[in-house]
Amino acid sequence: MKALVLSGGSGTRLRPFSYSMPKQLIPIANKPVLEHVLENIRDLGIVDVGVIVGDLGPQIAEVMGDGSRLGLRIAYIQQSEPLGLAHCVRLAQPFLGADDFVMYLGDNMLPDGIADMDRTFRTERSAAHLAVHKVPDPRMFGVAELDDARRVRRVVEKPRQPLSDLALIGVYFFTPAIHRAVDAITPSTRGELEITDAIQWLISNGHDVTASEYTGYWKDTGRTDDVLDCNRRQLEQIRSDTAGEVDAASVLAGQVIVEAGARVIRSRVDGPVVIGAGTVIEDSHIGPGTSIGRECAVHDTVVTDSIVLDGASIRGVPGLRGSLIGRGATIGVGRPGDTHHRLVVGDHTRIVVAA
Ligand code: DAU
Repeated sequence: MKALVLSGGSGTRLRPFSYSMPKQLIPIANKPVLEHVLENIRDLGIVDVGVIVGDLGPQIAEVMGDGSRLGLRIAYIQQSEPLGLAHCVRLAQPFLGADDFVMYLGDNMLPDGIADMDRTFRTERSAAHLAVHKVPDPRMFGVAELDDARRVRRVVEKPRQPLSDLALIGVYFFTPAIHRAVDAITPSTRGELEITDAIQWLISNGHDVTASEYTGYWKDTGRTDDVLDCNRRQLEQIRSDTAGEVDAASVLAGQVIVEAGARVIRSRVDGPVVIGAGTVIEDSHIGPGTSIGRECAVHDTVVTDSIVLDGASIRGVPGLRGSLIGRGATIGVGRPGDTHHRLVVGDHTRIVVAA
């Protein structure tokens, strides 16, 4: 059994981050979404993983390397344009060969793991076994209609009028039968080879397609609010660990990780919070649900329920909440007497100032 992880795509909903970094590298509790995905795959006992990457692939390769850090063997497969999920399967055919495989969307978080679904697939070995989850608004997702025996009767990509509330949540188990299906389909009206069309082809051609309902926590991390929600959820699982330095004038409450080389000076940290290696927190208050990356500088600031990426610097900002701050970003106050805000912001950036 192999795995195919999809980490190409354009990530327009996560602009401006996706201009410069693959959305699959956005950190959740200071670990890239993609690493959470790869850990779930490793936990199934799978070793060989093909990772589909687009233009920003070199950044992914730099972070994940050959996979040996996680006990995996990663083969990177370049996709020149995001031509659809089924296009990814076509590209990966030489890597997948005649093996069964799990296809996993590299921006989907299923922190409760996929072991139960994996067991069901290995036992029943239907041509496709799909992870589905009840959602309030299925129109944004692929939707599966099931019969009473968990057999999939129909799958539709982002239907205007969904006939079920069961969304496809980015995990698909396949036998090699899928290869005939992806070769048989043609691009959809939006110009993509849709995996839902390939699955529908399997159903129409008499193959067994089944589904398991995943009842744990799930998020497609394609939007800022979902990234922050997921971060809060993952931080609830951490346990305190202070490898860095905390001075006597600082207070840590709740579960707080201070990574090696980080320093907390005259500050209060109310967990769950993780502070990355080499970061300095000084005269500040870090509130629950906050992840601060590596080599950041936070001075005279109050920040809660936020994610700060590596190398960012924040000075003199008293009330940051629900914020996602990019790599190397600088936020600060002006000189005494300055009466204006000064902003140098990238395309599609969102700034909300206190009313
Ligand atoms: O999140 C679950 C949903 O994911 C499913 O319900 C939908 O059926 C499925 O089509 C997908 O919808 P999205 O609109 O969220 O797909 P997105 O474009 O975000 O791509 C999902 C992942 O696959 C993401 O990590 C990028 C990667 N990708 C996507 C395309 C289209 C590629 O690597 N290559 C591609 O060509």
